[in-house]
Amino acid sequence: MDKGKVWLVGAGPGDPGLLTLKAFQVLQEAEVILYDRLVSEDVLKLANPAAERIYVGKHEGEQHRRQEEILYLMLRLAHGGRNVVRLKGGDPMVFGRGGEEWRFLQEHGVPVEVVPGVSSAIALPALAGIPLTCRGYSSGFAVVSGHCREGEKQDWSRYARAETLVVLMGVKERSWIAGTLLDLGREPQEPVCFIEKGTTPEERVVEATLAAVARGKVEVLPPAVWVIGKVVALRQILLPAREGCHVR
Ligand SMILES: C[S@@+](CC[C@H](N)C(=O)[O-])C[C@H]1O[C@@H](n2cnc3c(N)ncnc32)[C@H](O)[C@@H]1O
Repeated sequence: MDKGKVWLVGAGPGDPGLLTLKAFQVLQEAEVILYDRLVSEDVLKLANPAAERIYVGKHEGEQHRRQEEILYLMLRLAHGGRNVVRLKGGDPMVFGRGGEEWRFLQEHGVPVEVVPGVSSAIALPALAGIPLTCRGYSSGFAVVSGHCREGEKQDWSRYARAETLVVLMGVKERSWIAGTLLDLGREPQEPVCFIEKGTTPEERVVEATLAAVARGKVEVLPPAVWVIGKVVALRQILLPAREGCHVR
């Protein structure tokens, strides 16, 4: 492993079996690991036991300040000749600030290598029996953030017509988002599914309709991936025996 370099590595959604071989290899050789809130303990157990581990997860309200600190911490470590693994849940380039960190390091002359990860946006629906595209059901999907910067709102008219919509970070605003999508012409009886804490022992799958979510009837806890679209109905065919919670 080269010295003074940063690896931007995806840890997948939680189950260590979904880590790539490349990520495993890089974790084995890491000297310092900076990891986020959504990186599971089971994935960290696979890392070099001698590596220094620094938790850099963020809580609401401290995002901006903390991100600055993380950038300069990576820079200091890399300039000090350490090989640094920046480990992020899912894929670093899907709502993971991977692009921003890469750019910052690049501008400061630090070599960067990316190790893509299995994103929760695609893996969790698949594991729940929901293919995001399927002939006769959906020929495309959009992955959208339900949470914007302070004071900003997502412009849902850009995405409302996608056959399959996958919403990340949308739990808190779910009723408002569902209501907005109904106002923009989606069907009240359209099936939706939340996959909460996917691939962990606490995983919970909640099926509902868009109208029920808009009425505030659907209990979900973060983190969850929210799928909206006809493809959700395939779950009953592909995993008929799987238990879940249904709200109609
Ligand atoms: C900041 S985004 C990071 C996404 C990540 N980079 C990815 O590719 O999966 C965090 C959001 O991802 C989703 N998420 C990530 N891991 C999850 C998991 N194990 N179970 C449910 N949702 C998850 C949730 O919507 C959560 O709010």
